[in-house]
Amino acid sequence: MKELLEHINLKNLPKHLAIIMDGNGRWAKQKGMMRVIGHENGTQSVKIVVENCARLGISHLTLYAFSTENWGRPTGEVSFLMSLFERLLQKELKEMEEEEVCINFIGDLTPLPPSLQQEMHRSMERTKHNQGVFFNVAINYGSRHEMINACKAIAQKVQQGELSADSINDQTISQHLYTSASPDPDLLIRTSGEMRLSNFMLWQLAYTEIYVTETFWPDFDKNQLDRAIVSFQQRDRRFGKVK
Ligand code: FPP
Repeated sequence: MKELLEHINLKNLPKHLAIIMDGNGRWAKQKGMMRVIGHENGTQSVKIVVENCARLGISHLTLYAFSTENWGRPTGEVSFLMSLFERLLQKELKEMEEEEVCINFIGDLTPLPPSLQQEMHRSMERTKHNQGVFFNVAINYGSRHEMINACKAIAQKVQQGELSADSINDQTISQHLYTSASPDPDLLIRTSGEMRLSNFMLWQLAYTEIYVTETFWPDFDKNQLDRAIVSFQQRDRRFGKVK
């Protein structure tokens, strides 16, 4: 904690931190282990990030856990991930309640295993009044799918006369996305050195600062988070304007 406070300006924290957790498979491969062991170990980093957001006062956190494209992975890996999510929710719910974390799942939850959906709804219900970190977990999430849904919902409102086409603006779109309860991310971290967005929050990331680290997700720890935040604090954010 002391180490963090020495480097980080607590007055200039990202309000919303988003993370593309990548490199679980390569982390495991490097150690001669099965890919799924990488996912299992990645849960430690999830815990570290949530705890440190709470400690620092970062109010919104979004983690990309499973994309709409991830269904294309081997069946064994997909079912491992589904049961890992479920196990994790059962195991961590109590702690999330104690830490005042409010968990919110974003994505199309309907194709997920019914027992997982049940755990998701239970954890959202049980933590909905919590005032600490607002924790979005993107599962079966795809940004293009999210935007298509938003367009359909807006079009329907126009058709029913609830909204005029002329009045549609940035806010209208943001309010119809899964992330409507969170501000746009200030900082996006992607682990494992890949430099792409992979269909993640394409609308929301318009002016987000991007930080890419070579570190594989299961090795991402408090110091890594510290470094990413310090890097963010050194950026000159102009939002397209001139200072
Ligand atoms: C990407 O690594 C990681 C995933 C697709 C799964 C991430 C899931 C967890 C860390 C488990 C729990 C998380 C939450 C928030 C419930 P990869 O498999 O694409 O790695 P590779 O690029 O090295 O193959």
